[in-house]
Amino acid sequence: MAKNKKEFNKYLYYENSVQTPEEHVKIYGNMFRELRKKEPMSLREDFCGTFLISCEWVKSHKDRTAYGMDLDPEPVDYGKKNGFKTLNANQKKRVKIVLQDVCYPTKQKFDVIGAGNFSFNIFKTRAELKKYFVAARKSLNKNGIFNIELAGGPGFIGKMKEQKTYTVKEIGGRYTYYWDQQSFDPITNHGMYAIHFKTPKGVMHKNAFVYDWRVWSITELRELMMESGFKDTVVYWEASDKNGDGTGEYVLTKNGDNAHSWIAFVVGIN
Ligand SMILES: C[S@@+](CC[C@H](N)C(=O)[O-])C[C@H]1O[C@@H](n2cnc3c(N)ncnc32)[C@H](O)[C@@H]1O
Repeated sequence: MAKNKKEFNKYLYYENSVQTPEEHVKIYGNMFRELRKKEPMSLREDFCGTFLISCEWVKSHKDRTAYGMDLDPEPVDYGKKNGFKTLNANQKKRVKIVLQDVCYPTKQKFDVIGAGNFSFNIFKTRAELKKYFVAARKSLNKNGIFNIELAGGPGFIGKMKEQKTYTVKEIGGRYTYYWDQQSFDPITNHGMYAIHFKTPKGVMHKNAFVYDWRVWSITELRELMMESGFKDTVVYWEASDKNGDGTGEYVLTKNGDNAHSWIAFVVGIN
């Protein structure tokens, strides 16, 4: 193999196109401080994949600990060989990653449990989702919060494909990221979504990631959290600028605006 040839690695492309771990760390911290009036120290990152948020979490405070959970060894191995390697020895000691199903409670308990990037949508039935919510609640500290990130609005269920280009040194140039909303069934609320990438050399990698999701509503999630034993639930809604575009800042909100597409966090309070 030519020495300089850059191999396609879907996790490298995914992290650079989709993830902003420093934003999640900020959001989790702000929520906890607002709801609990103190600093959160322990994070469980559910569906952690390459566990970038866990790495960012331990960098953000010298006493913070992170615990990532995922079933798939492939993204976890990628994370160990990449993001994790950028941590210093002390930060590394404060990260633990396990290959475990999030539907079972952990012995260890946490201030914050976070499920990012709509991952909980893999649970298609109330029974499955409730099992996850109950397990998460049992894994929280007394004053812990459980937050799940979701997307919605007509723009999230319509058929559409959007693309963005990014230039990243590690990838060796400008590449294209495609978000492909392939189908949605209004009777079952099941949707098929995919991510494709085109490398700087023009090689297309279709369906690098495929998501077979149920699109849950905020109301369903809040009701199910209460049925799962949470004392209360709140919603953090993304603030928008004067053009109606999301600012990346999430605000405790009682009523949302009927945006074409939106992102929000539903928070279960223990
Ligand atoms: C969309 S990726 C999330 C990646 C990353 N956390 C993010 O925010 O972008 C979903 C991950 O959930 C994992 N997963 C699916 N079902 C799971 C389960 N029951 N328990 C733990 N992890 C699971 C998959 O292996 C996959 O890595």
